[in-house]
Amino acid sequence: MRNEDMDEFVERVRSQSDILTVVSAYVPMKKKGNRYWGCCPFHQEKTPSFSVVPDKGFFYCFGCHVGGNVFKFLSLVENVSYFEAIKLQAEKLHIPLPERQKTPQEIQRDRKLSELRKVNEMARDFFHNCLTMTRYGEAGKAYLAGRGIPDETIEEFRLGFAPNAWDKLATAFLRRGVDKELLLEAGLVSPGKDSSRVYDKFRNRVIIPIADERGRVVGFGGRVLDDGTPKYLNTQETLLFNKRRLLFGMDRAHRAIQQMGYAIVVEGYMDAISVFGAGVRNVVASLGTAFTVEHCRKLLRYAPRIYFCYDSDEAGQAATMRALSIVRETGAEVHVIVVPDGKDPDEYIRKHGAKAFEALVKKAMPLVEYRLQYVLGHTAYDTLEGKVRALHEMIPVLSGIRDAAELLEYRKKLARVLMLDEGIVASEIGHYAGSRDPGPQVQTRGRPAAASQDNALRRAGRIVIRTAWQDVSVLAHVRAMLPLDSIHDEAQREIMEFLFSCQEQGKPLDDVAATESLSEAAATELSRAMVETLGGREEAEAYHDSIHVLRKAYLNTLYMQHSRKAEEYLRSGNPGYREELAEVQKIKEEMDGLQIG
Ligand code: GTP
Ligand code: MN
Repeated sequence: MRNEDMDEFVERVRSQSDILTVVSAYVPMKKKGNRYWGCCPFHQEKTPSFSVVPDKGFFYCFGCHVGGNVFKFLSLVENVSYFEAIKLQAEKLHIPLPERQKTPQEIQRDRKLSELRKVNEMARDFFHNCLTMTRYGEAGKAYLAGRGIPDETIEEFRLGFAPNAWDKLATAFLRRGVDKELLLEAGLVSPGKDSSRVYDKFRNRVIIPIADERGRVVGFGGRVLDDGTPKYLNTQETLLFNKRRLLFGMDRAHRAIQQMGYAIVVEGYMDAISVFGAGVRNVVASLGTAFTVEHCRKLLRYAPRIYFCYDSDEAGQAATMRALSIVRETGAEVHVIVVPDGKDPDEYIRKHGAKAFEALVKKAMPLVEYRLQYVLGHTAYDTLEGKVRALHEMIPVLSGIRDAAELLEYRKKLARVLMLDEGIVASEIGHYAGSRDPGPQVQTRGRPAAASQDNALRRAGRIVIRTAWQDVSVLAHVRAMLPLDSIHDEAQREIMEFLFSCQEQGKPLDDVAATESLSEAAATELSRAMVETLGGREEAEAYHDSIHVLRKAYLNTLYMQHSRKAEEYLRSGNPGYREELAEVQKIKEEMDGLQIG
Protein backbone atom coordinates (compact mmCIF):
# COMPACT_ATOMS: atom_id res chain seq x y z
CA MET A 1 0.00 0.00 0.00
CA ARG A 2 1.34 3.41 -0.89
CA ASN A 3 1.43 6.25 1.60
CA GLU A 4 -0.86 8.34 -0.54
CA ASP A 5 -3.45 5.58 -0.49
CA MET A 6 -3.31 5.57 3.28
CA ASP A 7 -3.61 9.37 3.49
CA GLU A 8 -6.54 9.25 1.17
CA PHE A 9 -8.16 6.53 3.24
CA VAL A 10 -7.74 8.47 6.50
CA GLU A 11 -9.02 11.63 4.88
CA ARG A 12 -12.06 9.83 3.58
CA VAL A 13 -12.88 8.37 6.98
CA ARG A 14 -12.29 11.72 8.65
CA SER A 15 -14.48 13.66 6.23
CA GLN A 16 -17.38 11.30 6.90
CA SER A 17 -16.95 11.34 10.68
CA ASP A 18 -18.76 14.06 12.53
CA ILE A 19 -17.27 14.34 16.00
CA LEU A 20 -20.59 15.29 17.60
CA THR A 21 -22.35 12.24 16.16
CA VAL A 22 -19.56 9.96 17.25
CA VAL A 23 -19.33 11.40 20.77
CA SER A 24 -23.11 11.43 21.21
CA ALA A 25 -23.18 7.65 20.80
CA TYR A 26 -21.33 7.46 24.15
CA VAL A 27 -22.26 10.66 25.97
CA PRO A 28 -25.49 12.67 25.86
CA MET A 29 -24.52 16.18 24.71
CA LYS A 30 -26.39 19.45 25.15
CA LYS A 31 -26.01 22.54 23.00
CA LYS A 32 -24.88 25.86 24.47
CA GLY A 33 -23.89 28.53 21.94
CA ASN A 34 -21.75 26.88 19.30
CA ARG A 35 -20.48 24.27 21.75
CA TYR A 36 -21.89 21.05 23.11
CA TRP A 37 -21.48 19.95 26.71
CA GLY A 38 -21.76 16.62 28.47
CA CYS A 39 -20.47 14.65 31.45
CA CYS A 40 -16.95 13.45 30.71
CA PRO A 41 -16.67 9.72 29.97
CA PHE A 42 -13.04 9.74 31.13
CA HIS A 43 -13.56 10.77 34.73
CA GLN A 44 -16.43 10.85 37.16
CA GLU A 45 -18.42 14.06 37.36
CA LYS A 46 -21.93 15.38 37.95
CA THR A 47 -21.72 18.71 36.14
CA PRO A 48 -20.57 18.68 32.52
CA SER A 49 -17.06 19.90 31.81
CA PHE A 50 -16.60 17.89 28.64
CA SER A 51 -17.06 19.97 25.52
CA VAL A 52 -17.18 19.46 21.76
CA VAL A 53 -16.97 22.09 19.06
CA PRO A 54 -18.31 20.21 16.04
CA ASP A 55 -17.28 22.64 13.32
CA LYS A 56 -13.68 22.63 14.55
CA GLY A 57 -13.60 18.89 15.10
CA PHE A 58 -12.14 18.89 18.62
CA PHE A 59 -13.20 17.84 22.11
CA TYR A 60 -11.71 18.81 25.44
CA CYS A 61 -12.52 18.12 29.08
CA PHE A 62 -11.84 21.03 31.43
CA GLY A 63 -12.03 18.62 34.38
CA CYS A 64 -9.50 15.94 33.53
CA HIS A 65 -7.74 17.75 30.67
CA VAL A 66 -7.97 15.19 27.93
CA GLY A 67 -8.65 16.38 24.44
CA GLY A 68 -8.22 15.66 20.77
CA ASN A 69 -10.05 14.98 17.56
CA VAL A 70 -12.70 12.42 16.70
CA PHE A 71 -10.23 9.54 16.34
CA LYS A 72 -8.50 10.38 19.59
CA PHE A 73 -11.88 10.27 21.30
CA LEU A 74 -12.63 6.84 19.84
CA SER A 75 -9.21 5.51 20.72
CA LEU A 76 -9.66 6.56 24.35
CA VAL A 77 -13.20 5.42 24.77
CA GLU A 78 -12.71 2.11 22.94
CA ASN A 79 -9.27 1.55 24.40
CA VAL A 80 -7.49 1.05 21.09
CA SER A 81 -4.59 2.76 19.38
CA TYR A 82 -5.16 5.88 17.30
CA PHE A 83 -4.83 3.94 14.08
CA GLU A 84 -7.11 1.18 15.33
CA ALA A 85 -9.69 3.87 16.05
CA ILE A 86 -9.51 5.06 12.45
CA LYS A 87 -10.01 1.49 11.25
CA LEU A 88 -12.90 1.01 13.65
CA GLN A 89 -14.63 4.09 12.33
CA ALA A 90 -13.89 3.02 8.73
CA GLU A 91 -15.59 -0.28 9.42
CA LYS A 92 -18.66 1.50 10.76
CA LEU A 93 -18.76 3.65 7.63
CA HIS A 94 -18.07 0.68 5.34
CA ILE A 95 -14.93 2.28 3.97
CA PRO A 96 -12.47 -0.46 2.92
CA LEU A 97 -8.89 -0.37 4.16
CA PRO A 98 -6.34 0.01 1.35
CA GLU A 99 -4.37 -3.17 0.72
CA ARG A 100 -0.79 -3.43 1.83
CA GLN A 101 1.73 -6.07 0.91
CA LYS A 102 2.73 -7.88 4.09
CA THR A 103 5.98 -9.76 4.46
CA PRO A 104 5.62 -13.56 4.53
CA GLN A 105 6.70 -13.53 8.21
CA GLU A 106 3.99 -11.02 9.05
CA ILE A 107 1.39 -13.06 7.24
CA GLN A 108 2.45 -16.17 9.10
CA ARG A 109 2.49 -14.47 12.47
CA ASP A 110 -0.95 -12.96 11.85
CA ARG A 111 -2.29 -16.34 10.89
CA LYS A 112 -0.80 -17.96 13.98
CA LEU A 113 -2.22 -15.27 16.27
CA SER A 114 -5.65 -15.59 14.82
CA GLU A 115 -5.56 -19.39 15.09
CA LEU A 116 -4.44 -19.16 18.70
CA ARG A 117 -7.21 -16.72 19.48
CA LYS A 118 -9.78 -18.94 17.85
CA VAL A 119 -8.71 -22.07 19.68
CA ASN A 120 -8.62 -20.19 22.99
CA GLU A 121 -12.13 -18.96 22.38
CA MET A 122 -13.25 -22.50 21.59
CA ALA A 123 -11.62 -23.72 24.79
CA ARG A 124 -13.31 -21.02 26.84
CA ASP A 125 -16.69 -22.10 25.48
CA PHE A 126 -15.84 -25.75 26.00
CA PHE A 127 -14.95 -25.20 29.68
CA HIS A 128 -17.92 -22.93 30.24
CA ASN A 129 -20.38 -25.41 28.73
CA CYS A 130 -18.79 -28.16 30.76
CA LEU A 131 -19.46 -26.21 33.94
CA THR A 132 -22.92 -24.97 33.18
CA MET A 133 -24.46 -27.64 30.99
CA THR A 134 -22.93 -31.06 31.67
CA ARG A 135 -22.75 -33.47 34.54
CA TYR A 136 -18.94 -33.20 34.49
CA GLY A 137 -19.35 -29.68 35.77
CA GLU A 138 -21.14 -30.60 38.97
CA ALA A 139 -18.00 -30.67 41.12
CA GLY A 140 -17.02 -27.26 39.78
CA LYS A 141 -20.46 -25.85 40.42
CA ALA A 142 -20.39 -27.11 43.98
CA TYR A 143 -16.95 -25.56 44.49
CA LEU A 144 -18.00 -22.15 43.19
CA ALA A 145 -21.22 -22.23 45.19
CA GLY A 146 -19.16 -23.05 48.28
CA ARG A 147 -17.14 -19.88 47.63
CA GLY A 148 -20.32 -17.88 47.31
CA ILE A 149 -19.83 -17.08 43.63
CA PRO A 150 -23.25 -16.41 42.08
CA ASP A 151 -24.39 -17.45 38.60
CA GLU A 152 -24.16 -13.88 37.33
CA THR A 153 -20.46 -13.85 38.10
CA ILE A 154 -20.02 -17.24 36.41
CA GLU A 155 -21.67 -15.77 33.31
CA GLU A 156 -19.90 -12.40 33.48
CA PHE A 157 -16.43 -13.96 33.67
CA ARG A 158 -17.39 -17.01 31.59
CA LEU A 159 -15.97 -19.24 34.32
CA GLY A 160 -15.65 -22.88 33.37
CA PHE A 161 -14.66 -26.35 34.45
CA ALA A 162 -12.13 -28.80 33.07
CA PRO A 163 -13.53 -32.33 33.40
CA ASN A 164 -11.89 -34.92 35.59
CA ALA A 165 -10.52 -36.95 32.69
CA TRP A 166 -7.30 -37.24 30.68
CA ASP A 167 -8.30 -36.08 27.25
CA LYS A 168 -11.86 -34.81 27.01
CA LEU A 169 -10.80 -31.52 25.45
CA ALA A 170 -8.10 -33.06 23.27
CA THR A 171 -10.46 -35.65 21.84
CA ALA A 172 -13.26 -33.19 21.24
CA PHE A 173 -11.00 -30.64 19.57
CA LEU A 174 -9.09 -33.14 17.43
CA ARG A 175 -12.40 -34.54 16.28
CA ARG A 176 -13.43 -31.04 15.29
CA GLY A 177 -10.35 -30.85 13.12
CA VAL A 178 -8.17 -28.67 15.34
CA ASP A 179 -4.50 -29.22 14.67
CA LYS A 180 -2.60 -31.05 17.43
CA GLU A 181 0.35 -28.69 17.10
CA LEU A 182 -1.93 -25.74 17.66
CA LEU A 183 -3.34 -27.29 20.84
CA LEU A 184 0.20 -27.81 22.09
CA GLU A 185 1.21 -24.30 21.17
CA ALA A 186 -1.79 -22.83 22.92
CA GLY A 187 -0.86 -24.77 26.04
CA LEU A 188 -4.19 -26.54 26.18
CA VAL A 189 -2.61 -30.01 25.99
CA SER A 190 0.74 -31.54 26.94
CA PRO A 191 2.60 -34.20 24.98
CA GLY A 192 2.29 -37.74 26.33
CA LYS A 193 5.19 -40.18 26.75
CA ASP A 194 4.14 -41.81 23.56
CA SER A 195 4.50 -38.82 21.24
CA SER A 196 1.44 -39.69 19.19
CA ARG A 197 -0.87 -38.84 22.10
CA VAL A 198 -1.58 -35.63 23.96
CA TYR A 199 -3.26 -35.03 27.31
CA ASP A 200 -5.40 -32.19 28.57
CA LYS A 201 -3.36 -29.72 30.54
CA PHE A 202 -6.29 -28.64 32.71
CA ARG A 203 -8.08 -31.46 34.50
CA ASN A 204 -10.58 -31.39 37.32
CA ARG A 205 -10.08 -27.66 37.85
CA VAL A 206 -12.28 -24.60 37.88
CA ILE A 207 -11.27 -22.55 34.87
CA ILE A 208 -10.83 -18.78 34.83
CA PRO A 209 -10.43 -17.41 31.29
CA ILE A 210 -7.84 -14.65 31.06
CA ALA A 211 -8.43 -11.97 28.46
CA ASP A 212 -6.34 -9.17 27.03
CA GLU A 213 -7.41 -5.53 27.28
CA ARG A 214 -9.79 -5.93 24.40
CA GLY A 215 -11.54 -8.93 25.87
CA ARG A 216 -9.90 -11.58 23.68
CA VAL A 217 -9.08 -14.81 25.54
CA VAL A 218 -5.33 -15.31 25.73
CA GLY A 219 -5.01 -18.00 28.37
CA PHE A 220 -6.49 -19.72 31.38
CA GLY A 221 -6.04 -20.20 35.07
CA GLY A 222 -7.23 -23.39 36.69
CA ARG A 223 -7.85 -23.84 40.40
CA VAL A 224 -7.88 -27.19 42.19
CA LEU A 225 -11.04 -28.08 44.06
CA ASP A 226 -9.27 -29.17 47.23
CA ASP A 227 -5.93 -28.60 48.91
CA GLY A 228 -4.03 -30.25 46.07
CA THR A 229 -0.99 -28.70 44.44
CA PRO A 230 -0.35 -26.68 42.54
CA LYS A 231 -3.24 -24.55 43.75
CA TYR A 232 -3.31 -22.70 40.46
CA LEU A 233 -2.22 -23.80 37.05
CA ASN A 234 -1.74 -21.11 34.40
CA THR A 235 -1.28 -21.24 30.66
CA GLN A 236 2.43 -21.16 29.86
CA GLU A 237 3.84 -18.12 28.05
CA THR A 238 2.62 -18.13 24.45
CA LEU A 239 2.58 -15.61 21.61
CA LEU A 240 -0.54 -14.20 23.27
CA PHE A 241 0.09 -14.80 26.93
CA ASN A 242 2.65 -12.55 28.59
CA LYS A 243 2.34 -12.34 32.35
CA ARG A 244 4.59 -9.34 32.71
CA ARG A 245 2.21 -7.31 30.65
CA LEU A 246 -1.20 -8.83 31.24
CA LEU A 247 -3.45 -7.75 34.04
CA PHE A 248 -6.43 -9.92 34.76
CA GLY A 249 -9.72 -8.01 34.45
CA MET A 250 -8.34 -5.11 32.38
CA ASP A 251 -10.96 -5.67 29.69
CA ARG A 252 -13.76 -5.06 32.15
CA ALA A 253 -12.04 -2.55 34.38
CA HIS A 254 -10.48 0.01 32.07
CA ARG A 255 -13.49 2.27 31.72
CA ALA A 256 -14.15 2.27 35.44
CA ILE A 257 -10.47 3.01 36.08
CA GLN A 258 -10.65 5.97 33.76
CA GLN A 259 -13.84 7.25 35.36
CA MET A 260 -12.80 6.81 38.97
CA GLY A 261 -9.29 8.10 38.38
CA TYR A 262 -7.61 5.11 40.02
CA ALA A 263 -7.11 1.38 39.65
CA ILE A 264 -7.25 -1.19 42.44
CA VAL A 265 -4.63 -3.92 42.07
CA VAL A 266 -5.16 -7.23 43.89
CA GLU A 267 -2.97 -10.35 44.04
CA GLY A 268 -5.25 -13.10 42.85
CA TYR A 269 -7.83 -13.37 40.14
CA MET A 270 -10.31 -14.78 42.62
CA ASP A 271 -9.88 -11.52 44.54
CA ALA A 272 -10.50 -9.51 41.38
CA ILE A 273 -13.62 -11.53 40.62
CA SER A 274 -14.91 -11.05 44.15
CA VAL A 275 -14.20 -7.32 44.24
CA PHE A 276 -15.82 -6.86 40.83
CA GLY A 277 -18.82 -8.88 42.00
CA ALA A 278 -19.11 -6.53 44.98
CA GLY A 279 -19.70 -3.70 42.51
CA VAL A 280 -16.21 -2.19 42.65
CA ARG A 281 -15.33 -2.35 38.99
CA ASN A 282 -11.96 -0.63 38.69
CA VAL A 283 -10.09 -3.74 39.82
CA VAL A 284 -7.37 -5.82 38.18
CA ALA A 285 -5.05 -8.62 39.32
CA SER A 286 -1.50 -9.46 38.36
CA LEU A 287 -1.18 -13.06 37.28
CA GLY A 288 0.76 -14.72 40.05
CA THR A 289 3.84 -12.70 39.15
CA ALA A 290 5.09 -9.64 40.94
CA PHE A 291 3.74 -6.30 39.83
CA THR A 292 5.93 -5.01 37.01
CA VAL A 293 6.80 -1.63 35.54
CA GLU A 294 4.92 -2.72 32.40
CA HIS A 295 1.79 -3.29 34.49
CA CYS A 296 2.23 0.12 36.00
CA ARG A 297 2.60 1.88 32.65
CA LYS A 298 -0.48 0.13 31.36
CA LEU A 299 -2.55 1.35 34.30
CA LEU A 300 -1.16 4.87 34.05
CA ARG A 301 -2.62 5.10 30.56
CA TYR A 302 -6.03 5.15 32.20
CA ALA A 303 -5.53 6.92 35.51
CA PRO A 304 -2.78 8.56 37.54
CA ARG A 305 -3.51 6.71 40.79
CA ILE A 306 -2.97 3.09 41.80
CA TYR A 307 -4.36 1.47 44.96
CA PHE A 308 -2.73 -1.78 46.01
CA CYS A 309 -4.88 -4.21 47.91
CA TYR A 310 -2.77 -7.27 48.66
CA ASP A 311 -3.20 -9.91 51.33
CA SER A 312 -2.44 -8.40 54.71
CA ASP A 313 -0.33 -11.31 55.92
CA GLU A 314 3.44 -11.03 56.11
CA ALA A 315 3.95 -12.23 52.51
CA GLY A 316 1.32 -9.79 51.24
CA GLN A 317 2.93 -6.88 53.08
CA ALA A 318 6.31 -7.74 51.62
CA ALA A 319 4.73 -7.97 48.15
CA THR A 320 3.12 -4.57 48.71
CA MET A 321 6.49 -3.05 49.63
CA ARG A 322 8.04 -4.53 46.50
CA ALA A 323 5.23 -3.21 44.32
CA LEU A 324 5.62 0.22 45.90
CA SER A 325 9.28 0.34 45.04
CA ILE A 326 8.49 -0.72 41.46
CA VAL A 327 6.06 2.13 40.89
CA ARG A 328 8.07 4.79 42.68
CA GLU A 329 9.96 5.96 39.62
CA THR A 330 6.93 6.01 37.35
CA GLY A 331 5.21 9.00 38.89
CA ALA A 332 2.08 7.08 39.85
CA GLU A 333 0.27 8.32 42.92
CA VAL A 334 0.02 5.31 45.16
CA HIS A 335 -2.25 4.25 48.00
CA VAL A 336 -2.55 1.02 49.94
CA ILE A 337 -5.85 -0.52 50.96
CA VAL A 338 -5.30 -2.44 54.16
CA VAL A 339 -7.47 -5.50 54.70
CA PRO A 340 -7.69 -6.25 58.42
CA ASP A 341 -6.62 -9.50 60.06
CA GLY A 342 -4.54 -11.38 57.50
CA LYS A 343 -7.33 -11.79 55.03
CA ASP A 344 -7.35 -11.29 51.29
CA PRO A 345 -10.00 -9.04 49.68
CA ASP A 346 -12.09 -12.02 48.58
CA GLU A 347 -12.34 -13.49 52.08
CA TYR A 348 -13.00 -10.05 53.52
CA ILE A 349 -15.89 -9.39 51.16
CA ARG A 350 -17.38 -12.81 51.77
CA LYS A 351 -17.31 -12.24 55.50
CA HIS A 352 -18.15 -8.56 55.81
CA GLY A 353 -19.89 -7.66 52.55
CA ALA A 354 -19.41 -5.18 49.73
CA LYS A 355 -20.15 -2.07 51.81
CA ALA A 356 -17.45 -2.89 54.31
CA PHE A 357 -14.95 -3.32 51.49
CA GLU A 358 -15.90 0.04 50.01
CA ALA A 359 -15.22 1.56 53.39
CA LEU A 360 -11.71 0.05 53.32
CA VAL A 361 -11.14 1.63 49.90
CA LYS A 362 -12.15 5.02 51.30
CA LYS A 363 -9.67 4.61 54.14
CA ALA A 364 -6.78 3.73 51.80
CA MET A 365 -3.42 4.91 53.13
CA PRO A 366 -1.12 7.20 51.18
CA LEU A 367 2.13 5.54 50.17
CA VAL A 368 4.31 7.38 52.68
CA GLU A 369 2.01 6.57 55.55
CA TYR A 370 2.00 2.90 54.62
CA ARG A 371 5.75 2.70 54.37
CA LEU A 372 6.14 4.50 57.64
CA GLN A 373 3.86 2.04 59.40
CA TYR A 374 5.58 -0.90 57.73
CA VAL A 375 9.04 0.25 58.74
CA LEU A 376 7.92 0.98 62.28
CA GLY A 377 6.19 -2.39 62.46
CA HIS A 378 9.32 -4.18 61.30
CA THR A 379 12.03 -2.42 63.29
CA ALA A 380 12.68 -2.48 67.01
CA TYR A 381 13.08 1.28 67.29
CA ASP A 382 13.37 1.38 71.06
CA THR A 383 17.14 1.01 70.77
CA LEU A 384 19.37 3.67 69.30
CA GLU A 385 20.50 1.27 66.59
CA GLY A 386 16.85 0.53 65.70
CA LYS A 387 16.04 4.23 65.55
CA VAL A 388 18.87 4.86 63.12
CA ARG A 389 17.82 1.92 60.97
CA ALA A 390 14.18 3.09 60.88
CA LEU A 391 15.32 6.62 60.11
CA HIS A 392 17.46 5.47 57.21
CA GLU A 393 14.65 3.33 55.80
CA MET A 394 12.33 6.31 55.83
CA ILE A 395 14.62 9.04 54.54
CA PRO A 396 14.39 8.05 50.84
CA VAL A 397 10.62 7.89 51.17
CA LEU A 398 10.34 11.30 52.79
CA SER A 399 12.73 12.79 50.24
CA GLY A 400 10.28 11.79 47.55
CA ILE A 401 7.50 13.99 48.97
CA ARG A 402 6.97 16.94 46.67
CA ASP A 403 4.73 18.99 48.87
CA ALA A 404 6.53 21.13 51.44
CA ALA A 405 3.73 21.15 54.00
CA GLU A 406 3.31 17.40 53.77
CA LEU A 407 7.03 16.86 54.13
CA LEU A 408 7.07 19.00 57.23
CA GLU A 409 4.25 17.00 58.73
CA TYR A 410 5.94 13.64 58.13
CA ARG A 411 9.22 14.98 59.40
CA LYS A 412 7.54 15.96 62.65
CA LYS A 413 5.76 12.66 62.89
CA LEU A 414 8.86 10.57 62.30
CA ALA A 415 10.84 12.59 64.85
CA ARG A 416 8.03 12.19 67.38
CA VAL A 417 7.61 8.43 66.93
CA LEU A 418 11.34 7.71 66.99
CA MET A 419 11.84 10.26 69.77
CA LEU A 420 14.56 12.01 67.83
CA ASP A 421 15.23 15.70 67.47
CA GLU A 422 13.41 17.08 64.43
CA GLY A 423 16.58 18.89 63.39
CA ILE A 424 18.35 15.56 62.99
CA VAL A 425 15.61 14.21 60.75
CA ALA A 426 15.66 17.41 58.68
CA SER A 427 19.41 17.37 58.23
CA GLU A 428 19.37 13.68 57.24
CA ILE A 429 16.80 14.46 54.57
CA GLY A 430 18.86 17.40 53.37
CA HIS A 431 21.90 15.18 53.23
CA TYR A 432 20.13 12.51 51.26
CA ALA A 433 18.57 14.98 48.81
CA GLY A 434 21.95 16.65 48.33
CA SER A 435 23.68 13.36 47.62
CA ARG A 436 21.26 12.54 44.86
CA ASP A 437 21.71 14.22 41.58
CA PRO A 438 19.44 15.82 40.38
CA GLY A 439 17.41 14.59 43.36
CA PRO A 440 13.75 15.16 44.05
CA GLN A 441 13.25 18.82 44.76
CA VAL A 442 10.88 19.99 47.39
CA GLN A 443 8.68 22.66 45.97
CA THR A 444 7.31 25.32 48.19
CA ARG A 445 3.63 25.70 47.80
CA GLY A 446 2.58 27.99 44.96
CA ARG A 447 3.75 31.48 44.28
CA PRO A 448 0.27 32.69 43.41
CA ALA A 449 1.29 35.83 41.51
CA ALA A 450 3.71 33.99 39.25
CA ALA A 451 1.24 31.17 38.68
CA SER A 452 -1.58 33.43 37.62
CA GLN A 453 0.71 35.42 35.34
CA ASP A 454 1.67 32.11 33.80
CA ASN A 455 -1.97 31.15 33.34
CA ALA A 456 -2.76 34.48 31.70
CA LEU A 457 0.06 33.95 29.21
CA ARG A 458 -1.12 30.44 28.44
CA ARG A 459 -4.67 31.63 27.92
CA ALA A 460 -3.42 34.33 25.59
CA GLY A 461 -1.34 31.78 23.74
CA ARG A 462 -4.38 29.61 23.17
CA ILE A 463 -6.36 32.52 21.77
CA VAL A 464 -3.55 33.27 19.32
CA ILE A 465 -3.39 29.61 18.34
CA ARG A 466 -7.13 29.42 17.77
CA THR A 467 -7.14 32.57 15.66
CA ALA A 468 -4.23 31.36 13.56
CA TRP A 469 -5.92 28.00 13.06
CA GLN A 470 -8.97 29.71 11.61
CA ASP A 471 -7.04 32.21 9.55
CA VAL A 472 -3.43 31.36 8.77
CA SER A 473 -2.85 34.82 7.32
CA VAL A 474 -2.40 36.17 10.86
CA LEU A 475 0.71 34.02 11.20
CA ALA A 476 2.84 36.70 9.55
CA HIS A 477 1.76 39.10 12.25
CA VAL A 478 2.35 36.52 14.98
CA ARG A 479 5.83 35.88 13.64
CA ALA A 480 6.66 39.57 13.63
CA MET A 481 5.46 40.05 17.20
CA LEU A 482 6.64 36.85 18.88
CA PRO A 483 9.86 35.01 18.18
CA LEU A 484 9.30 31.30 18.71
CA ASP A 485 11.55 31.06 21.72
CA SER A 486 9.64 33.78 23.49
CA ILE A 487 6.75 31.33 23.89
CA HIS A 488 7.33 29.79 27.29
CA ASP A 489 4.83 26.99 27.20
CA GLU A 490 6.48 24.05 25.51
CA ALA A 491 3.27 22.60 24.08
CA GLN A 492 2.24 25.97 22.65
CA ARG A 493 5.65 26.52 21.13
CA GLU A 494 5.36 23.14 19.44
CA ILE A 495 1.94 24.06 18.06
CA MET A 496 3.22 27.39 16.72
CA GLU A 497 6.11 25.62 15.02
CA PHE A 498 3.64 23.23 13.47
CA LEU A 499 1.45 26.11 12.23
CA PHE A 500 4.44 27.91 10.73
CA SER A 501 5.67 24.81 8.96
CA CYS A 502 2.23 24.04 7.52
CA GLN A 503 2.02 27.59 6.27
CA GLU A 504 5.48 27.46 4.70
CA GLN A 505 4.70 24.22 2.93
CA GLY A 506 1.25 25.38 1.93
CA LYS A 507 -0.33 22.45 3.77
CA PRO A 508 -3.94 22.83 4.89
CA LEU A 509 -4.52 22.66 8.62
CA ASP A 510 -6.59 19.81 9.86
CA ASP A 511 -7.05 17.90 13.07
CA VAL A 512 -5.69 14.66 11.64
CA ALA A 513 -2.41 16.18 10.48
CA ALA A 514 -2.09 17.97 13.82
CA THR A 515 -2.74 14.82 15.85
CA GLU A 516 -0.20 12.89 13.84
CA SER A 517 2.55 15.51 14.01
CA LEU A 518 2.17 16.85 17.52
CA SER A 519 3.22 15.32 20.80
CA GLU A 520 0.46 14.18 23.12
CA ALA A 521 0.77 17.27 25.30
CA ALA A 522 0.69 19.64 22.34
CA ALA A 523 -2.30 17.90 20.73
CA THR A 524 -4.19 18.18 24.01
CA GLU A 525 -3.28 21.86 24.35
CA LEU A 526 -4.44 22.47 20.78
CA SER A 527 -7.79 20.81 21.55
CA ARG A 528 -8.14 23.02 24.58
CA ALA A 529 -7.36 26.11 22.50
CA MET A 530 -10.04 25.15 20.01
CA VAL A 531 -12.71 24.40 22.60
CA GLU A 532 -12.11 27.20 25.11
CA THR A 533 -14.68 30.00 25.16
CA LEU A 534 -13.87 33.67 25.05
CA GLY A 535 -16.24 34.77 27.79
CA GLY A 536 -18.21 37.06 25.50
CA ARG A 537 -15.37 38.98 23.85
CA GLU A 538 -15.08 39.41 20.12
CA GLU A 539 -12.55 37.07 18.51
CA ALA A 540 -10.64 39.83 16.77
CA GLU A 541 -10.40 41.93 19.89
CA ALA A 542 -9.33 38.93 21.93
CA TYR A 543 -6.58 38.15 19.45
CA HIS A 544 -5.32 41.70 19.50
CA ASP A 545 -5.19 41.77 23.29
CA SER A 546 -3.59 38.38 23.56
CA ILE A 547 -0.79 39.07 21.17
CA HIS A 548 -0.05 42.26 23.09
CA VAL A 549 -0.07 40.45 26.41
CA LEU A 550 2.45 37.97 25.04
CA ARG A 551 4.53 40.65 23.37
CA LYS A 552 4.65 42.57 26.60
CA ALA A 553 5.89 39.55 28.51
CA TYR A 554 8.54 39.08 25.84
CA LEU A 555 9.59 42.73 25.99
CA ASN A 556 9.77 42.46 29.73
CA THR A 557 12.42 39.76 29.53
CA LEU A 558 14.32 41.76 26.89
CA TYR A 559 14.12 44.81 29.12
CA MET A 560 15.60 42.88 32.01
CA GLN A 561 18.36 41.42 29.88
CA HIS A 562 19.47 44.74 28.45
CA SER A 563 19.29 46.64 31.71
CA ARG A 564 21.38 44.00 33.39
CA LYS A 565 23.94 44.26 30.63
CA ALA A 566 23.95 48.06 30.74
CA GLU A 567 24.61 47.90 34.47
CA GLU A 568 27.44 45.47 34.02
CA TYR A 569 29.07 47.61 31.35
CA LEU A 570 28.71 50.70 33.46
CA ARG A 571 30.35 49.01 36.39
CA SER A 572 33.27 47.76 34.32
CA GLY A 573 33.60 51.01 32.37
CA ASN A 574 32.68 49.42 29.06
CA PRO A 575 31.39 52.09 26.64
CA GLY A 576 28.96 49.50 25.20
CA TYR A 577 26.61 50.63 27.97
CA ARG A 578 25.31 53.46 25.75
CA GLU A 579 23.98 51.05 23.19
CA GLU A 580 22.42 48.93 25.88
CA LEU A 581 20.73 51.92 27.45
CA ALA A 582 19.41 53.02 24.07
CA GLU A 583 18.01 49.52 23.59
CA VAL A 584 16.39 49.64 27.01
CA GLN A 585 14.83 52.99 26.17
CA LYS A 586 13.47 51.65 22.89
CA ILE A 587 11.96 48.63 24.58
CA LYS A 588 10.41 50.82 27.24
CA GLU A 589 8.79 53.02 24.62
CA GLU A 590 7.33 50.06 22.84
CA MET A 591 5.98 48.67 26.07
CA ASP A 592 4.31 51.95 26.92
CA GLY A 593 2.72 52.01 23.51
CA LEU A 594 1.14 48.57 23.82
CA GLN A 595 -2.58 48.69 24.37
CA ILE A 596 -4.14 45.91 26.30
CA GLY A 597 -7.89 46.12 26.78
P1 GTP B 1 -7.83 -18.73 46.64
O1 GTP B 1 -7.14 -19.61 47.64
O2 GTP B 1 -8.46 -19.50 45.55
O3 GTP B 1 -8.68 -17.69 47.22
O4 GTP B 1 -6.68 -17.98 45.87
P2 GTP B 1 -5.93 -16.65 46.28
O5 GTP B 1 -6.25 -15.64 45.26
O6 GTP B 1 -6.19 -16.31 47.69
O7 GTP B 1 -4.48 -17.18 46.01
P3 GTP B 1 -3.10 -16.78 46.56
O8 GTP B 1 -3.16 -15.55 47.38
O9 GTP B 1 -2.54 -18.05 47.15
O10 GTP B 1 -2.36 -16.49 45.19
C1 GTP B 1 -2.56 -15.31 44.44
C2 GTP B 1 -2.24 -15.57 43.00
O11 GTP B 1 -1.00 -16.20 42.88
C3 GTP B 1 -3.21 -16.49 42.31
O12 GTP B 1 -4.29 -15.80 41.74
C4 GTP B 1 -2.37 -17.10 41.23
O13 GTP B 1 -2.30 -16.26 40.10
C5 GTP B 1 -1.01 -17.18 41.87
N1 GTP B 1 -0.79 -18.52 42.44
C6 GTP B 1 -1.10 -18.96 43.66
N2 GTP B 1 -0.75 -20.24 43.84
C7 GTP B 1 -0.18 -20.62 42.66
C8 GTP B 1 0.39 -21.82 42.19
O14 GTP B 1 0.43 -22.84 42.88
N3 GTP B 1 0.88 -21.82 40.91
C9 GTP B 1 0.84 -20.73 40.14
N4 GTP B 1 1.32 -20.80 38.89
N5 GTP B 1 0.29 -19.58 40.54
C10 GTP B 1 -0.20 -19.51 41.79
MN1 MN C 1 -8.11 -16.15 48.45
